[in-house]
Amino acid sequence: MFQGSLTQTHYFGGLPASIRRVLARLADTLPEAFTCGRHEIDGELIFMNVMEFDTQPAQSKKAELHRTYADVQLLISGIEGIEYSALTPTRDLEPYHSDDDYQLISDIPDNSQLRMLPGMFAVFFPGEPHKPGCTLSGSGTIKKVVVKVHHSLLNQP
Ligand code: CU
Repeated sequence: MFQGSLTQTHYFGGLPASIRRVLARLADTLPEAFTCGRHEIDGELIFMNVMEFDTQPAQSKKAELHRTYADVQLLISGIEGIEYSALTPTRDLEPYHSDDDYQLISDIPDNSQLRMLPGMFAVFFPGEPHKPGCTLSGSGTIKKVVVKVHHSLLNQP
């Protein structure tokens, strides 16, 4: 996992080219230009889901893990809590859904929490559990982007 802000793009030179390209594209898009739904960026290798929904208490949500894609999650509006861990859980996982590349777990062992504000992003690598869309004080409706980046692109400088 790593977290950052789109205001810091001048420090992103050392990131994988695919992630740099995604962040540059997000930084070049005006917040109001993101329309809800799925948008192709590079076929099945990189695509983007834009969504708007109400946050919910973390206790009422499950966390997700992916195997094939990393998530680049950018908050466009609102305040969002995301629980996560850099460690892959080994117990209490629900079955993996290969068609949609996700696996759920009720709670993340040893979780940490991010406080996301507009313009902030977080990258979750395959195997890293994350529970997005959680309510923090001041949250309500949020709008966010999740860019899926195929794992084969993550190791390329
Ligand atoms: Cu995810």
